[in-house]
Formats: sequence, structure tokens, C-alpha cells
Amino acid sequence: MSNVTGKGDVLRFFINGKKVTENHADPETMLLSFLREKLRLTGTKYGCGGGGCGACTVMVSRYQPATKTIIHYSANACLLPLCQLHGAAVTTVEGIGSTKTRIHPVQERIAKAHGSQCGFCTPGMVMSMYALLRNNPQPTMEDITQALAGNLCRCTGYRPIVDGCRTFCQEANCCQDNGAGKCCLNVEENTDEPGHEKPQLFDKEEFLPLDPTQELIFPPELILMAETAKPQTLTFHGERMSWVSPASLDELVQLKTSNPKAPLVMGNTNIGPDIKFKGVLHPLIISPTRVKELFEVTQTQQGGCLGGSGLQSVRVRSLLEKLVPQFPEEKTELFRALIQQLGNLGSQQIRNVASLGGNVMSAYPNSDLNPVLAAGNCKVSVILNGGRREVPLNQDFFVSFGKTILKPEEIVVSVFIPFSRKGEFIRAFRQAPRKESSFATVTTGMRVFFSEGSRMVQDVDVYYGGLGPTTVSAAKTCAAIVTRPWDNETLSRAYDILLDELVLPPSAPGGKVEFRRSLTLSFLFKFNLEILLKLREMNVITDEFPEKMQIQPLPREIQPSVQEFQDVSKRQSDQDPVGRPIMHRSAISHATGEAVYCDDIPRTNGELFLALVTSSRAHAKITGLDMSEALQLPGVVDVITAKDIPGKKVRTMFGYPEELLAESEVSCVGQIICAVVADTRAHAKRGVAGVKISYEDLPDPIFTTEEAIEKSSFFEPRRVIERGNVADAFKTVDHLYEGGIRMGGQEHFYMETQSMLVVPVGEEMEFNVYVSTQWPTSTQGAIAETLDIPSNRVTCHVKRMGGAFGGKVTKTSILASITSVAAWKTNHAVRCVLERGEDMLITGGRHPVLGKYKVGFMNDGRIVAADIQYYINAGNTVDESLLVVEKILLHIDNAYNIPNLKGRAAACRTNLPSNTAFRGFGVPQSIMIVENMVNDVAVVLGRPADQIREINMYKGPSVTHYKFEFSPENMLRCWEECKVKSDYSARCRAIDQFNQQNRWKKRGMSIIPIKYGIAFAESFLNQAAALVHIYKDGSVLVTHGGTEMGQGIHTKMQQVASCELHIPPSKIYISETSTNTVPNTCPSAASFGTDANGMAVQNACQTLYQRLEPIRQKNPKGSWESWVTAAFFEKISLSATGFYRGPDLYMDWDKMEGQPYAYFTFGACCSEVELDCLTGDYRTVRTDIVVDIGRSVNPSVDIGQIEGAFIQGLGLFTLEELKFSPSGLLYTRGPSQYKIPAVCDLPLHFNVYLLSDSHNPHAIYSSKGIGEPILFLGSSVFFAIKHAAAAARLECGLIGPFSLDSPATPEKACLACASPFTQKIPASKPGSFKPWALNI
Ligand SMILES: Cc1cc2nc3c(=O)[nH]c(=O)nc-3n(C[C@H](O)[C@H](O)[C@H](O)COP(=O)(O)OP(=O)(O)OC[C@H]3O[C@@H](n4cnc5c(N)ncnc54)[C@H](O)[C@@H]3O)c2cc1C
Ligand code: FES
Ligand code: FES
Repeated sequence: MSNVTGKGDVLRFFINGKKVTENHADPETMLLSFLREKLRLTGTKYGCGGGGCGACTVMVSRYQPATKTIIHYSANACLLPLCQLHGAAVTTVEGIGSTKTRIHPVQERIAKAHGSQCGFCTPGMVMSMYALLRNNPQPTMEDITQALAGNLCRCTGYRPIVDGCRTFCQEANCCQDNGAGKCCLNVEENTDEPGHEKPQLFDKEEFLPLDPTQELIFPPELILMAETAKPQTLTFHGERMSWVSPASLDELVQLKTSNPKAPLVMGNTNIGPDIKFKGVLHPLIISPTRVKELFEVTQTQQGGCLGGSGLQSVRVRSLLEKLVPQFPEEKTELFRALIQQLGNLGSQQIRNVASLGGNVMSAYPNSDLNPVLAAGNCKVSVILNGGRREVPLNQDFFVSFGKTILKPEEIVVSVFIPFSRKGEFIRAFRQAPRKESSFATVTTGMRVFFSEGSRMVQDVDVYYGGLGPTTVSAAKTCAAIVTRPWDNETLSRAYDILLDELVLPPSAPGGKVEFRRSLTLSFLFKFNLEILLKLREMNVITDEFPEKMQIQPLPREIQPSVQEFQDVSKRQSDQDPVGRPIMHRSAISHATGEAVYCDDIPRTNGELFLALVTSSRAHAKITGLDMSEALQLPGVVDVITAKDIPGKKVRTMFGYPEELLAESEVSCVGQIICAVVADTRAHAKRGVAGVKISYEDLPDPIFTTEEAIEKSSFFEPRRVIERGNVADAFKTVDHLYEGGIRMGGQEHFYMETQSMLVVPVGEEMEFNVYVSTQWPTSTQGAIAETLDIPSNRVTCHVKRMGGAFGGKVTKTSILASITSVAAWKTNHAVRCVLERGEDMLITGGRHPVLGKYKVGFMNDGRIVAADIQYYINAGNTVDESLLVVEKILLHIDNAYNIPNLKGRAAACRTNLPSNTAFRGFGVPQSIMIVENMVNDVAVVLGRPADQIREINMYKGPSVTHYKFEFSPENMLRCWEECKVKSDYSARCRAIDQFNQQNRWKKRGMSIIPIKYGIAFAESFLNQAAALVHIYKDGSVLVTHGGTEMGQGIHTKMQQVASCELHIPPSKIYISETSTNTVPNTCPSAASFGTDANGMAVQNACQTLYQRLEPIRQKNPKGSWESWVTAAFFEKISLSATGFYRGPDLYMDWDKMEGQPYAYFTFGACCSEVELDCLTGDYRTVRTDIVVDIGRSVNPSVDIGQIEGAFIQGLGLFTLEELKFSPSGLLYTRGPSQYKIPAVCDLPLHFNVYLLSDSHNPHAIYSSKGIGEPILFLGSSVFFAIKHAAAAARLECGLIGPFSLDSPATPEKACLACASPFTQKIPASKPGSFKPWALNI
């Protein structure tokens, strides 16, 4: 190591206009932890730590002395090394506005447009948008969607966020398709009757104008510093790492020569994740961000441009964009191909920091730039101590995974990007699991050069990424093309050679082998089509080129949409908020970053952090647990094992025991064995690595449902339900068909991971627990049992959760119990916040399902009998799986009256992490199998699926298969209205026409109904309580048993209290849910939260209102405050509890009958997609949803639930894939590997209509539960994809039912289309190889 010892420098930068001087900046510290832990600026959130979620977005501003300009860009604080911020100004969400001063228009608009639910993603959204507006106060919709592409939201479905941000667009930009200069948000646009305004979710006239002069100014001190300070080396030393930032190229070269192993950190988007996730330790980091030669741009004699290796992707892109119009088109082929790839690389935040040199030198196998740079004949200019050299970026450059031909001490100074020549064409293609903000599955750069005026190929280069450990060249294929004419004969040979040349073994890492191989061919074919068009355009060839063969890009512009709901009655008092679209009561706090989540609670003195040690084996005996090394590490206080648990070590559900901490045996990878407690998060994590566990593997772990079936590994009881006589009915039908579908699981991916803080009060075993849970009572009980103390010593507080979706019902109590043992043993407050990867590994998710069916039906489409069998993969413990099994069987009828219907379901016990409740609780899986069956019936009969659905629907007074009477009238109304609103028939015809006109793109559409049972079949859970206090000043504090996870329950409860007490909502506050105010609560689940708690709050408020009645009568003109004061003096109690004894529901499984639901929520949804059959890429072009939710208590909250659930369902059925290794390890442990829907997945037209004039006598104010039902309707996109794939198959003469498993990812959709290219790929024989991932 040279020049880097000695005293470190002082780091100086600004945060929110305030100077920060850090004398001991640790190179391991990222800005995010500095903000959150040191400065207590907790508005910036931690969602993943790897640049994949955007929750941590901040804006960085820097002064550029050369141009005397200030640049602003968004960045992920989790990947931004603190040491890199010298001289920068950082703006966080707290810096742009607050409720104490003024809120910023971005904060206001996202909040008031209902763009926040749980609010955890909101500060990140706000900052992405804010950074965009700082650079461009009047952005286009494209700018907005680009800016938000890397910000994940699990709650809202994005539509309201986009609509809030859309209000910043110039009107001309906001709704191009409206034409006539009318703004999309113009109220009249959505109004049927002129003169009558339909109610709107928000009023943009209310919004503060954006005034750029109000923004924080860039600190003059930093300008002075940049202008005057002499460049000098900066060094910083931390506990384990040193950081040196040289001020000149010479110094950089010297440093790298003497420290060849030290990485050069530019954007830190490669090194950062390596350090964090792979535990790589670099004792020295060199940060060359101040070496100006690395940022220079020159045009060269050779013809082209030389871009400094330090240039960030976004700057390279804008540089190329500037150059393109300056030169003839023929010269800028490479520039344009690079612009396209740079636009797709990561998210805006990543592109703002990731450098050109960093991308080349990271040598990622699926780098988007390298194949294009290589195909385009680029070179890197390299410097080392002995001098400079130029190295071509060709097949020899990339040596192996992450390695290039360059010596470790060599530095890339710049990249030469040449002009293309006349007759030269360069294209880039990529296909990724998600359209945006996702590494490519396969990515490619292709170049061809023709002899002048001819189709003879002089030179050709084809490079691929994603097909092995490096960027690869298809050299043999190119050799077969060069010197030959570009025609069908040449290309046909080329496809065959390519297939032989780029072989992927069937067990290749990353899987998707057939898909990846077929993409290599599809991309070459796409290239071929584009080149043929070009050659025709240039009159070089005259080949026929039917329009049908051309491929236009998929549409992408998000259009304004409709949200229709019924206005409140004219008779309703203006003050009464029930039925009105009231903003989420915490929306402004979300948007300002002031909302407090569990991990935002300030650290208490002596607080410790707990990190979990989990099993690395799927099924094994624990033969040794050595914690000696961990206990020696700095900061480690203790290691908690099962032996430390003073009370119950095991919890029992349905008779099956589950250990809190495994003692002698483990049954899945990720099972918790012990926990390290240390003074800081970092120390606890290092302690985890220091715990050594030895195992003895046990034979034959079970992973897949098939294995479980074969070995009869089930959690009992298995359930059966039957009405009619299926076996007999099968004998009478015209057709019998057997089919099935496999449906993958789903990760909750709540943005806030599992979090808790257990604080010992210090006397009589009293504990205060701050926890992110849907069920505080269960957590309280679990802790009490674990510590062997009465429940009255444990108070659980839940202020809010950053999303939950069922994942914080049972799993949290295990984690909180372990944390409480640590708090009890150490007598210190102990905090546990799971890392995203740990959370995904440990806590399970939605059950994957294998569904099989036999169906009997008549020629006229009537389904007479169906026998449906479900196997759910429960994992290693029972959790709630048996209840999921039951709910599955209760929904096998969905909307259909099938006279002979049988369902069987079993929970398979496997050696995977235990699965649990997830929004819908088995219903999405249940109905998916049913709808697939109905779809198959339609295909067999050659009839449109909607007709078969209609024929079989319940009509008139109806009875379900469990003998529950109901009226399907509103279900049928939803269905009919959905057909009308979506213009179903006309669009069916348009789709047929589109499909005839397009060979390689197909459109598909489907319309799907839902009937969803609300409330708990376990009757005791249908109860709720509330406690309402009126204080002497007239302010009201409401507490109830529901927990706020973003679904807006507190907002609705505030509306209920406001309505019942006849006071404005502003007088009512809800602070938290806590076990010492409302005891013995039920989980906020089953879409029943508002129904139950609303009644309890109503009950309490009515009691109080009646108590005030005599006072009011005495002084009818008095104010609320005067009545309250008078009541106090008259010794009237101003506090009341409320209680709701819900319906007595039941299900008798022996008799196969019952009344398990209070009522049904109905809906129907129509979605249309456009599918690229060559790549499987698709766009949802339009979705229309009609939902019957009775009379909505709050249309904005309810529409938010509908949109959010739909998008979560779209993720489930088309995008989200959990991948497990053959040894049972979850590969997909973060947003980089597991893709939840992002802004790019929003249907381009996304309309929601609440059914009007619907009433529900079973719930508060005639409303209906809505949290879960609509999730299933995301499957309309799945079935639309299947419809499109069927049209593609028809082109190859394939008719009849075909299998498409869920999720219908681009991989599955592409293979289902059975293009001539996918058909060329030889399928590997199952059983002849070990696949990379299991099909669980
Ligand atoms: C969430 C996320 C999404 C992403 N998505 C994509 C994507 O879609 N497509 C894609 O192509 N990439 C993607 N990336 C990868 C990203 O583009 C690369 O990590 C990035 O370009 C590397 O640049 P950097 O400046 O951050 O490198 P750093 O992490 O700072 O450095 C990376 C490596 O390059 C070396 N290095 C850097 N500069 C030089 C130099 N001048 N000379 C010699 N060695 C040098 C360093 O020593 C280090 O080993 C993604 C990354 C993340 C985190
Ligand atoms: S926490 Fe930084 S991107 Fe997820
Ligand atoms: S509101 Fe976006 S994650 Fe909850």
C-alpha cells in the first residue's frame, strides 16, 4: 500500500443546506446509514441495500468548475460511499419540504393524488421526481416514467403516483391522444353529461405551483471550495478499509501500480453490491472520481468519439444524443445502438452514477454495453506506469466471469466509439425478465457491413451477453455470413450454425436454457428483418417484404385513465366524510419522510442489534455450534440459542410443533438456528459470519410437490368437498378433458422488511415492543409464552407497517420472540430488522400450487362436472397452510354453477422455508386452476372463453357447492358493465384484425370474473374492539384493533368516528394500535379489517354521542368543544369502548356445508396485451376493472386497494418467479433477482369503475371488504397472454389446448408461441441432467 497511510482527511459536504464535517469518515459507510443512523434523517428508507428498489433515493448536486454549472442527479444512497461525497451537496426528502415549514409541490401532489398507501416507497418516489424537476421543470410523461422506473412500490399499482406526477407535465405533453389541446385531467373529459361533473379523486386546482426559485440553493462555500482549493489527495481510514482519492492521473497510475488489487470505485454499482452481498473486503479503495482525464470527451482523428471511462452512463447517453444530429445518419449507427442500450441499463439512479469504464471492466456476462461496444469495433485506451496502449474490445478482451485481458494495474482512461461507415448497420437487442430496471436475460450487439450498393456482406460481428460467463462472440456464425449475400439462404444457414456454436448446457447457471438459446436466434432474425428493410429502403434489394412480417416496438406511453365512483348523496352533510375520496391520513407524513416506521424509532442508550444465523442445509442434523469466534469479534455481546429461552421453545399450530430456534435438526435452508447480538448492525452481521455450524445431512430432502406426493409427505388433514356426483356425471357428458397447471409462489416483498424493537422496561419483567405486525395480540402472546411471563407484561405497539400483505401475521411473532429473548437476557433494548435477502430467505410467501383437473362438458359449453385437485407446497412447517387448503376448496366454484363439483386439496410438507398467508390466502391459486380449466373447455370447443364463462355463471338465486345461498346479481352486473366499459366486442374484432396483420406480434384479451368470500370462516376471529377518548379540548383519540399497513384502515376509522361524532376528521387522531389499549385483537386480514373495526369504532362513538345528548339538548347551538367541556364538568365519562360481535360463520367439513363467509365481493376485469412472439416481451395495453364494493367508505382508498391488488396479481401471474437451487437454497433474494411489477408494468390504459347503486347489509355503511379480492383479476393479463400465444401457435398450425404455467413470464410466453426459432431448440431430456433450479 502506498501514499495511503497516516492521518485521514476531513470529509466536507452538505446535507439539506447544512455543512457536514466528518473527521473519521469510514469508507465502509454508505450515505444511507450515515443519514439514518448518524444524522437521524430517517425519511430516506432502506429497502434492499443494492440499488434495486429506489427507497433510498436522494439528490446529489455538484459544482463543475470547468463549465461553472451545477449538476443535480438522483442516486441510491445505499450504494453511495460517504467518502465519495467530498464537495457535494446532498438533498434528502427532509430537505425539500416538511409539515413544519412548507411542503414541496412534489410531496403535495403525490400525497393528494393518493400516491401513497404504506408510504415506505414514497420518499424515494418524491426524490426521484424532485431530481427530475430540478433538471426539467416541465417534463414529458416519458421523462417521468424513466425517472420512476427504478422506484418500486408494492402497494399502489403506480397509477396514482404517475397521475400525481403527471400534473407537472406541460398540458400538451400529458395527453397526446386526447388531441384538441384538451388536458387529460380536464374534468369534462370524464363526464358523460355536459354540465354535470363526475366526482374526481383529487382536484389539481388545489395544488401549489412549482416554483424553482424556492429550491435550496447550492452552497456557495462548495463553489468556492471547487474553484479555489488546490487539488490534493484525500484519504480516509475506517475500521477495516482505507479510501484514497487521487487528484491527478499520474497519482492514480502510481497508486494503482503499487496497489494493483485495490479496485477503482466510480459509481460503486459493482463493487458496492459485491462488498455487501458477497462479503468481499477491500482493504484499500481507490476513488478516481476527481481525475479529470477520465471524464474528458474528444472527437478523434480516426473518426468517432473518445469518451472518458469515468463518464456516467447518463452522460455518455446525452453526449451521444447530442452528436447524432450533428452527423449523417450513416455515421451514427453505433451511437444510436448505444443510446438505446444506455436507456435500458438499470434505473435512472444507477445510470446517473454507473460509469462507462466500470461497466466494461466489471465484465458482467450480461452487460448491455459490452456486446454493442465489441460488435461496434470499439477500443479502450489503457494507461499503466510504463505508458499507454489501445486494446480492442473484442472476443479476446473478456476472459472469464468478471475478468478482462487487462493487467490488474492497468487503468482504462477512455473508450473509443467509432463512426459507422456507409453500408454499415449496427443494432442492439435485449430481453429482460422485466421491461425496465432489470438485467437482461440475453442482450446483443450486431453489426454488418456491406460492399457498396450491394447485399454482399464484407464484415459482420455478433456478440451476445447472458449466454455464459462472459460476453461471447458468434464468430463461426459470422464466418458463415461474411462474403455472402444477405439473403434467406445465408441467414437460414446462419441460424443453424449459431445454434451449434452457442450451446448452453441444460444445467447452465441462470436456467432458462431453451429460452436463452431461442433468443439468440430471434435476435438474429430481428436483425435480419431490420437489415432487409434498410436494404430495401436504399434500393439495394427489391425482395418482397410484407407488412405482416415487420415488427414495430411495443407501445409504451401510459395514458390518462378513468376512476369512476358514485358521488355521495346530495343530502349528506358536507362535514360527513364517509363515501368521499379522503386522502390517506398519513399521506403528507409519508411524502415528507416524517412518518415513523419501526426502524425509524431513535436508538435508546445501550441498544443492541440482533442478526440471525440460519441453516445452510435443507435437511440435516446439527452436529456442532461454535460461537467462540463470533464472541471474540468487536462489538459482539452474545449469541442467543434455544437453550437461552426461558419459556416455551416451541410453538404449536394445528398440532404440529415449530421450534423458535433449531436445536438438533434443521428442515430447510434459512431455518433460524441462533442469533448474534452486538452493539451495531455491522458488528452483529460480522458476528453471524463468525458462528460456525457443522451438520450431518439427512437423506432424501423433499422439495417439489411431486416428491411430496410420491412420499406421501403431507400436513394432515387433507380436505375434500363435493356436490352432486362427479363420477356419475362424467359418464353423461359430451366431452371429457384432463389438464392442469402449475402456479409458482410469491414473495410478499413488503417494502419495509420485518422489523422490531424490544425494550425491557426494567421492572417486573415488563417489555415494550415496537413491531411491524398485522397481529399485535399474537406477537404479545408469543413473547409472553417465550419468556414465560403473563401477557400483561408485554405491550406491543404498532404505529404503521411499510406493507405486509399477510406476511406479517404469523412470521413476525417468531422473530419478535427471539428478539425478546435477547432483550431479556442482555437487559438491553434489542432491535432486529431483517435484510431484504434474509427476509426473503426466511419468511416464506405464497404457496406454489400444482393443480390438476378432469372436466366433463357438453357441446353447448355447459360444464356438467369437474374434479379438481390441489397440492400446495407448504414448506417445512404447517403455519397457516391448512387454512389455506380450506379456503382454496371454498373458492373452486368462482363464478360458476357447476352442478357436480369436487375439490381435493393437500398441503405438502417439504424441506423449503415455510409458506404463509399472502393477500388472497389461497383464493388466487384456487381460481387460477378453475379459470384455466374453463379456458381449456373453450379451446376444446373452439369457442371464445368469455362465452363459456357466461354460459356457466351463477344466475338468479344461487347456492354454492357448500350450500351457501347468495344472489349473483351484482356479479353479473359487474361482468356486463365490464364488457360495455371495455368495449369488449369491438376490441375482439380489432384484435382478430391485428393478429391477421402481424406475424410476429399478437394481441390477446381476456375477461375474468371474481366472487370472493369476505370474513373469517373461523368464527371467533370475526370480532373487534375499539377505545375512543374525547379529551377536554375536544380532540378525539381513536384506538382500534386494526393495524395500518397502507390499506388505509386508520383513514376509514377516522371517517367513521367523524361521521358518528359529527365532527370534522381533523379533530380525530389515531396514534397507533397497541395491546394495552385494545386487547385480544384479531389479525388485520381476510379483507375484514374495516368491516369489523369500523363497527367497533361506530359502537364506541355512538355510546359517546349518546352520553353527550343531554348536554347538546341543553345547549343545541353550542360548539363541540363547549359540549365536551360541559360533559367533563358534569362528570360524564368521555371515554368509551366499542365492540363488534361479528357473524357466526362456520364450515362443517364432514357435512361439506357451512356459512364460512359474511358475503361476497364481486368484480370483473378485462385486459388486453400485445405480445412479441419472438421474445415473449409483452405490454398490457388496457385493463378495465368493474368492482362491486357496496357503497365505498372511501373511494380513493378502495380504488387504491383495487389497483394495488391488481398489479400485485399481475406480478404473481406474469412476472414474479422464486427460484430454488437443487439443494433447496432460494436464489432470488433481492430485487435484482426477483422482479415485482414496476412503473413499466402499469397497463397503458388502466380504468377502474366501482359498481353504482350497490348495497351490503352485512358491513359498515353498506360497504364491502376489498383488500384481497382483486388480486386474482391480475390473471386477466395471464389469460390475455395465453390468448395471444394461441394466435401465434395458429400461425404454425398448432391448435387445441396447450400448457402455460404461471407466471407467464417472457420465457414461458415466448416458448408457448412456438415460433420456428423456439422449435429449433432441442429440448433436453428430463432426468438426463441436474437443472439449475427446481420446479417446486
Ligand atoms: C441495480 C443495478 C442494476 C443494473 N442494471 C444493469 C443493466 O441493466 N445493464 C447493465 O449493463 N448493467 C447493469 N448494472 C451494472 C452497472 O451498469 C455496472 O455495475 C456499472 O456500469 C459499473 O460501473 P461503476 O462505475 O459503478 O463501477 P464500480 O463498481 O465503481 O467499479 C466496477 C469495477 O470496474 C473497475 N473499474 C472502474 N473504472 C475503471 C477504470 N477506469 N479502469 C479500470 N478499472 C475500472 C473497478 O476496479 C471495479 O472492479 C446494474 C447495476 C445495479 C447495481
Ligand atoms: S435501499 Fe437503496 S435501492 Fe433499495
Ligand atoms: S406505498 Fe409504495 S410501497 Fe407502500
